[in-house]
Amino acid sequence: MSALSILQPIHHPTFIHHKISVQVKRDDQIDKVISGNKWRKLKYNLLHAKAIGAEGIITFGGCFSNHIHACALACQQQQLSAIGIIRGEQDNQNNYTLAWAKHWGMQLSFVDRKTYRLRNQESYLQQLQQQFPDYLIVPEGGSNALALTGMAEVIAELNQQGEFDTLITPVGSGGTLAGLIFADKAQHELLGISVLKQDGYLEQQVNELLPEAAKSYRNWQVMNQFHRGGYAKFNPHDAQRIRSFAKSVGIDFEPVYSGKMILALLDLIEAGYFPAHQRIVLLHTGGLQGLAGMFERGILPQKDWPTLPVAPINQKSQSYG
Ligand SMILES: Cc1ncc(COP(=O)(O)O)c(C=O)c1O
Repeated sequence: MSALSILQPIHHPTFIHHKISVQVKRDDQIDKVISGNKWRKLKYNLLHAKAIGAEGIITFGGCFSNHIHACALACQQQQLSAIGIIRGEQDNQNNYTLAWAKHWGMQLSFVDRKTYRLRNQESYLQQLQQQFPDYLIVPEGGSNALALTGMAEVIAELNQQGEFDTLITPVGSGGTLAGLIFADKAQHELLGISVLKQDGYLEQQVNELLPEAAKSYRNWQVMNQFHRGGYAKFNPHDAQRIRSFAKSVGIDFEPVYSGKMILALLDLIEAGYFPAHQRIVLLHTGGLQGLAGMFERGILPQKDWPTLPVAPINQKSQSYG
């Protein structure tokens, strides 16, 4: 099997000082839109939808969701319909993320926060399934058993790409880390960097997703001390550190997921967490489209950050690519 993404060594004075080697698994390069863990998590969900003859997918996300953005295009490419149940206000329907999702044919249904909180409840899902009997319901972030099968392929590729000691990934809903744990079979240390401020919640999510055989593995942990204030929160100094690291290694990161992983890595190295000669792999989970919402809201200055993977819809021809 040839690898879907490369494993790229990166160099930084902190790594040299602490005698550590770091490589990045470039899943962000898989596709401009369906990149990173999105591609991995959607792959078997979409194949399953096709196999059971579903008309399409129903899924969930916020107004800036990487999953919604990627799922819309992936469904269009697979000739599946897509319905996105979106948390929050219709006012956001023309933001970068949702404008592209609509353009790729996703039908958006906005719900208030109270309704959105029902998204994993059995009775709500049954009701939704009755309303849309021909659709496959995929949870928020695409994190379900089928997503684990897709994520497992990262480990299969890494095992062919060389030896390493520790694999690090950002964690938002738990599917990515659960897939890695399941496939790694306790060979390596797996560190998940929580991007949320909810101690214990993600460990539980990961445990719930793990198949029985993988529940006994003890080679993983979710680190809860690097969320920097909560989901999508960061201060200008954090943003500056991410940006300057990105420039020095020549790989773009964004501050909601992969950037928090980078800050955690640097803090852990400085704190002496890793022994000398440790071989670390960082999983680049993509998500650069999320920068658009921060430019739109003036949270980040666009001129200092990388070009978006796909130009805003109103500035571009109406095609992607
Ligand atoms: C870019 C990016 N990285 C990492 C994650 C976290 O993955 P998971 O939700 O599977 O924990 C997400 C959310 O799905 C994401 O969009």
